[in-house]
Amino acid sequence: MNTINMEERKTMNRREALKRMGALVTGAAFTATGLSSFTVSKSDKSDEGKKRLVFYFTATGNSLYVARELAGEKGEQLSIPQVLKGDNLTFEADEIGLVFPDYAASAPLIVRDFISKAKLKASYIFSVITFGNFAANVAEWWNDYCKKQGVTLNYANTLLMVDNYLPVFDMNDQVKIDKHIPENLATIKSDLNEHRQFISHLERMNDQMQGWLDRLQAEHFPMEAERLLKLDAAKCIGCETCAAVCPHGNFKLIDNTITFSGSCEYCLACVHICPQKALTLARGERNSNARYRNEHVSVRDIKKSNNQQ
Ligand SMILES: Cc1cc2nc3c(=O)[nH]c(=O)nc-3n(C[C@H](O)[C@H](O)[C@H](O)COP(=O)(O)O)c2cc1C
Repeated sequence: MNTINMEERKTMNRREALKRMGALVTGAAFTATGLSSFTVSKSDKSDEGKKRLVFYFTATGNSLYVARELAGEKGEQLSIPQVLKGDNLTFEADEIGLVFPDYAASAPLIVRDFISKAKLKASYIFSVITFGNFAANVAEWWNDYCKKQGVTLNYANTLLMVDNYLPVFDMNDQVKIDKHIPENLATIKSDLNEHRQFISHLERMNDQMQGWLDRLQAEHFPMEAERLLKLDAAKCIGCETCAAVCPHGNFKLIDNTITFSGSCEYCLACVHICPQKALTLARGERNSNARYRNEHVSVRDIKKSNNQQ
């Protein structure tokens, strides 16, 4: 792949960059440089097939894995925390996707922020929300949320994967459960290839369940890092992995000690990815010795997706 060094980035205008790199590759490069307005369409490349951009947010890799799978070889997956660093958030492609984890039957705040700021131009816009146990009405909730932001979804579905919610689930147990991911993902892929019009709907939703979810959302979001986390200083080796995987840049190494503060996504990337298991949840966990990362996704991938440094 073509690369651009820092000096060239400063002097090159958008047109020159497009010429140099080709439209598809430009997606990734502009995101990395913070220039996030670009177009990817069939006419930009001579090869056949529609061009698909898939925006994602991930903490433990499930949503990145799905975004990658849905982007396929001809598409492009773009990290929402990286894209948000740019100031022009206009994107155009034949198909645009949004993939992220379900947080208490709603979307992570960073994803809501993105959809409220972005201008998405595509004839088919889809969302796949990864979840671990009970998706409730998240697809409809997201569909309504997007509508209020002026974005019409053609497709919103959920995909059952490992549940990374540490207060309730033991990761050692979670990884043993067959959640039929390949089959369900294949169905979603085929839905998208056929441009299926579909918003997943929960029949059993009732007022009591809605009340429970509302309370959960109010309790969870927004969260502060100081309230959520506990550091075992004896275990911490100062590797700063937590700092690199935090989508809010909440961690700093000061005098050889990791400190954290600020508005937090409650994504748990820092806790799951810490190689020392030095970070735990202040209010306790089901099993503080068990951590999770999607088997297809590396620590480096998660750092690249979320790093704010
Ligand atoms: C704060 C938080 C809340 C969550 N809420 C739900 C939920 O309401 N229902 C559910 O099935 N999974 C829930 N999960 C699990 C994640 O949605 C699921 O594990 C997801 O696939 C993680 O994606 P990622 O690996 O891309 O971060 C929650 C996870 C976190 C961290």
